[in-house]
Amino acid sequence: MFLAQRRLCPLDSRAKFLKTIYSSKILGLPASAKMSLKITNAKRIEGLDSNVWVEFTKLAADPSVVNLGQGLPDISPPIYVKEKLSKIAAVDSLNQYTRGFGHPSLVKALACLYEKFYQNQINPNKEILVTVGAYGSLFNAIQGLIDNGDEVIIIMPFYDCYEPMVRMAGATPVFIPLRSKPVDGKRWSSSDWTLDPQELASKFNSKTKAIILNTPHNPIGKVYTKEELQVIADLCIKNDTLCISDEVYEWLVYTGNKHLKIATFPGMWERTITIGSAGKTFSVTGWKLGWSIGPNHLIKHLQTVQQNSVYTCATPLQEALAQAFWIDIKRMDDPECYFNSLPKELEVKRDRMVHLLESLGLKPIVPDGGYFIIADVSLLDADLSDMKDSNEPYDYKFVKWMTKNKKLSAIPVSAFCNEETKLQFEKFVRFCFIKKDSTLDAAEEIIKAWIRQKS
Ligand SMILES: Cc1ncc(COP(=O)(O)O)c(C=O)c1O
Repeated sequence: MFLAQRRLCPLDSRAKFLKTIYSSKILGLPASAKMSLKITNAKRIEGLDSNVWVEFTKLAADPSVVNLGQGLPDISPPIYVKEKLSKIAAVDSLNQYTRGFGHPSLVKALACLYEKFYQNQINPNKEILVTVGAYGSLFNAIQGLIDNGDEVIIIMPFYDCYEPMVRMAGATPVFIPLRSKPVDGKRWSSSDWTLDPQELASKFNSKTKAIILNTPHNPIGKVYTKEELQVIADLCIKNDTLCISDEVYEWLVYTGNKHLKIATFPGMWERTITIGSAGKTFSVTGWKLGWSIGPNHLIKHLQTVQQNSVYTCATPLQEALAQAFWIDIKRMDDPECYFNSLPKELEVKRDRMVHLLESLGLKPIVPDGGYFIIADVSLLDADLSDMKDSNEPYDYKFVKWMTKNKKLSAIPVSAFCNEETKLQFEKFVRFCFIKKDSTLDAAEEIIKAWIRQKS
C-alpha cells in the first residue's frame, strides 16, 4: 500500500509523505521519534560534517576572485604527462579494470623510482599499493592499522583530514603543536617551527599505535631535518609505534634543504607507511592517484581495506602515470627532470609571494618546501565587523572578508588545527603559490591597490 501511495506521490509532497508513514497514525509513534531511529547518521561520522575545502572552494568559485586558496596548480602539467594519457585512451584494454592493488606497470615504475632512496629493493606487488590519491592511502592506512581505543599522535597544524580519519577509525587523536622560537628582526622561516622532543616523548604511551608525520609540511612548509626525524624515529622504536609518513610534497624542497624519508632510518622501514601523490608529483591533482609504500606485513592490511572499498583505481591514469615516471626516472640528475625543474620554478614564485606579503606589512613564514606560505594577517587590521558569524575563528572571517572585498581567496590555517587549539593559529592564513605568473600578477595588483588604500 505504501509503495502504491509513493508512486502516486508528487515530488513536492514527498516530504509530507515520509512524515506521514512515520507518523503516529501509521506506526503509533511521534514522527520525530521514529525518524531518529533509523534515518540518521552513523555515530562514527558525528561532528565531522564541516570541511574547509567544501566551504572555501565554493567561495573561490566566483570567476572574479583570484584563487590562492586550495592547493590547485593552475600551471600546465608537463606536456608528456598529458600526451601519454590522451594516447592511452585509444588502447581498448587500458580502458578496462586493472590489478586492484596497482596497475602492473605503475607499481614497477614506483618500485624502480623509490629503490633509489631505500636501502632495500622494493617488491612492487607486495610493498606498494596504488590508491585514490594520497587521501586514499591515508584512509587505507588508518582503517587498516588503527583500532578502536588506540591513540594516534598528530602534529599541529595538520592536513585537515588526519583528525576525522583517526576518529572514524574509533581512535583518539593526541595533538602536539609545532612551536616557533622568537625571530626578532630576521625573516621568519618554516625551520623556526619545531617539536619539543620532551613534549613529544610525553605523548607516547602504551595505547599509542601511530604517529602521523608530514614532511614537507602543509601548511607551514617545514622540511624536517635528519636530527628531527631521528628524534621521532627513536620514539617510534622505543614505544613500538607505527609511523604514517605523508610525503606528498617530497620533490618540492627549496635551496639549502633536502627531503629525507623516515622509512630509511635504521629500524623504521618495518614500521612505516610512506605516502606519495601523483597530483603533487606531476601537478595533476585531478588525477587523484596516490601510493603507499611499506613492508608487506603492513601493506597487506591496507590492501584489505582497498579491496573492500574502492577495489581499484583508474587504469588509463595509472598507465599514463607509469609512462611519465619512466621519462623522469631515466633523467633524475638532469635539470630538465620534472622533480628538479618544478622546485626551481616554484622557488621563484615562493620568493615573489614572500615579497608581496611583506609589501603588505606582513611577516610571512618562508617555507622550505611545499607550495604554501602562511602569514599572520591580524597585522592588517581588517574591519571584519560586517562578517556575520561571530562564532567563527578570526581567520575564517578574514578569508571570507578578503574574498568578498578584495577578490582574493586563501585558506584559514585554523582549519588545520583541532577544536581546542584553533586559537593558536587563527590569525594565520595560507596562500598557495603554484600558480601561473598571470595569476600571481593579478594577486599583485590586488595587493598593490590594498597598499594604496591603506596609505
Ligand atoms: C599533506 C597532504 N596530504 C595529502 C593530500 C591529498 O593528496 P591527494 O590529492 O593526492 O589525495 C594533500 C593535498 O593537498 C596534502 O596537502
